[in-house]
Amino acid sequence: MRKKYICGNWKMNKTSSDALEFAKKINDFDFEKVDVLIAPSFVCLESFRKNLKNEIIVAGQNVSEFDDGAYTGEVSTSMLKDISVNDVIIGHSERREKFFESDEIVNSKVKKALEDGLSVILCLGESLEKKEENKAVEFVREELLKSLDGVKNLDKVTIAYEPIWAIGTGKTCSSEDAENMCKEIRNIIDEKYGEISQQIRILYGGSVKPANAGEILSKENIDGVLVGGASLKAEDFIEIIKAGENL
Ligand code: 13P
Repeated sequence: MRKKYICGNWKMNKTSSDALEFAKKINDFDFEKVDVLIAPSFVCLESFRKNLKNEIIVAGQNVSEFDDGAYTGEVSTSMLKDISVNDVIIGHSERREKFFESDEIVNSKVKKALEDGLSVILCLGESLEKKEENKAVEFVREELLKSLDGVKNLDKVTIAYEPIWAIGTGKTCSSEDAENMCKEIRNIIDEKYGEISQQIRILYGGSVKPANAGEILSKENIDGVLVGGASLKAEDFIEIIKAGENL
């Protein structure tokens, strides 16, 4: 049985003080059946992790593919590990689109993070254009295989399917379409990696809210959610965790 995974991606929101307010609220909420992760901005990571209960995983939203050196503005795997942050989101569509991260760069980051012992949430998803051309599956297949090129072991990998047209738009992919794509992703992983396809967690992300989380999470091949906007309010995020607890 794959344990459901409820993940929040705060993107460029919340100061360290905001994050501490959030921690106070969520620390009082107990859950047991799901795993929970929150990815705040880099500057909040250490204080947030220290003030958050241990049951909640704290992750980076990005990491450099390089060890160290002259890379102004970048954060390395060793910097994350040094503050006990062992999880990272890689390849979010906003990184790919707004910061020009190609599949090759994403692949280097995934390999670097895994080599250095971090767990990775790898994001994938088609644009509206690809969807309208009926090329979503083809696109996601290529993005998945290129992003994982040379990666031999998926033990520490989670996949997040986030159709770009559903991110921050209020347009949710129907739970059936999300389930179908997550199933396709599992089949592609099965072809390439075999048995691990039954253990790897595949999440859905894109306008997940308290109102639709239960239905999305009830699908067989959707093992969790990656939540943007609705993860910013502790009350809403707690409702989404409850949706996972109550399945
Ligand atoms: P929204 O939930 O705001 O649509 O964002 C989804 C997302 O990009 C999570 O990584």
